[in-house]
Amino acid sequence: MDKLLIRGGTRLEGEISISGAKNASLPILAGTLLTSDTVTVCNVPHLNDVTTIIALLQSMGAMVTVDDKLNIAVDNSDISERCAPYELVKTMRASILVLGPLVSRFGEADVSLPGGCAIGARPVNLHVQGLQSMGADIKVENGYIRARADRLRGAHIVFDMVTVTGTENLMMAAVLADGETVLENAAREPEVSDLANFLNKMGAKITGAGSGTIRIEGVDGVGGTSYEVLPDRIETGTYLVAAAMTGGRVRLKRTSPDCLEAVLVKLQEAGASIAIGDDWIELDMTGKRPRAVDIRTLPYPAFPTDMQAQFCAMNATAEGVGTVTETVFENRFQHVLELQRMGADIRIEGNMAISTGVERLTAAPVMATDLRASAGLVLAGLAAEGETVVDRIYHVDRGYERIEEKLNQLGASIRRVPGF
Ligand code: EPZ
Repeated sequence: MDKLLIRGGTRLEGEISISGAKNASLPILAGTLLTSDTVTVCNVPHLNDVTTIIALLQSMGAMVTVDDKLNIAVDNSDISERCAPYELVKTMRASILVLGPLVSRFGEADVSLPGGCAIGARPVNLHVQGLQSMGADIKVENGYIRARADRLRGAHIVFDMVTVTGTENLMMAAVLADGETVLENAAREPEVSDLANFLNKMGAKITGAGSGTIRIEGVDGVGGTSYEVLPDRIETGTYLVAAAMTGGRVRLKRTSPDCLEAVLVKLQEAGASIAIGDDWIELDMTGKRPRAVDIRTLPYPAFPTDMQAQFCAMNATAEGVGTVTETVFENRFQHVLELQRMGADIRIEGNMAISTGVERLTAAPVMATDLRASAGLVLAGLAAEGETVVDRIYHVDRGYERIEEKLNQLGASIRRVPGF
């Protein structure tokens, strides 16, 4: 398994471009299953998770071509398989996103239960219940969700809790259903709105995406289109924190400032000067040490759980005492144990991580456990004295395109070494 060797202590300065959003690319690529026309998706990041969902589409019979600009054309005119096998789903939970489109267009789908992951049990009961309320007959057996429906019918669904992929799956299921579907207590993440914009470009009739109530008027069919995925707000936030932790100054281009208000507010609280334009954000922390901040993760537009580990890393070297409360996932503090090994004065009490910032973390060999935890460890390595070795960085490659290249472009000193 590859490792990253990070020599800490340099300020990050300069500018880089942000890639397309992983968590918009995945549902949008799944949504191409709704039509037999060719769909082209642009600005898709080159990530392991994207490769996985393309492999999943191809295993069903999709023809996928990628041009030299990484625009992805998907032809789903000959989908002979309606199954998402365990071998693929276990490597990427978001494969569950093919369930809604498959049942909506073909009336059948056999999708492996994703199972849990490092950050929690990650049940999909709300996805299943929503489909059942739309008339699907669902059996969960031998580790698979087996869904059948003549034609889904519109339903009024109230989510017991906010679920991002649950909202996306049922939005896609409703596109070709008979009648109107209303999703209440829906997720408001920008990636949900991006998916709705994409589906509407294909001919769907969706209103209210981005609010807690989404209405989908079922149509008989949707057609091909081309669509550019929105920038990745979590990649953006991650590199802003990297600059804040190293007392640097960076400009991030090709991003959308209005998708990460809660993160920008917290960075300003930490002492950063922030300037924004239409598609860029500049953070200036030159010569300053961040002040510790208090974070509470909640569904959008509140502070995103996917930025929690990064702020734990920042609090670890900030001035003062900071608390990070995780309310979305039940086991998302694995990075804390590794930060402690780097000298962080941080402890966990229930779902809160309390830290008293230290002047300097010390380099150590650490292990990535999940995508955002590994990002947090990379950031800690940037701020630590000495050379930190982050192992199992396949976790990082799932969500960050060319992370060491982008950080080295900002002055970091990171090497990728093949693991054995
Ligand atoms: C999406 O996961 C993201 N993944 C996650 O990003 C993100 O952390 C999460 O939303 C929260 O923002 C993608 O979009 C591909 P949820 P998702 O359903 O949809 C519970 C990353 O790092 N729940 O919103 O799986 C669930 O256990 C990844 O890029 C149920 O109980 O998350 C959790 O406690 C990590 N039953 C809470 O809801 C269900 O049927 C929120 O989960 C569904 C969810």
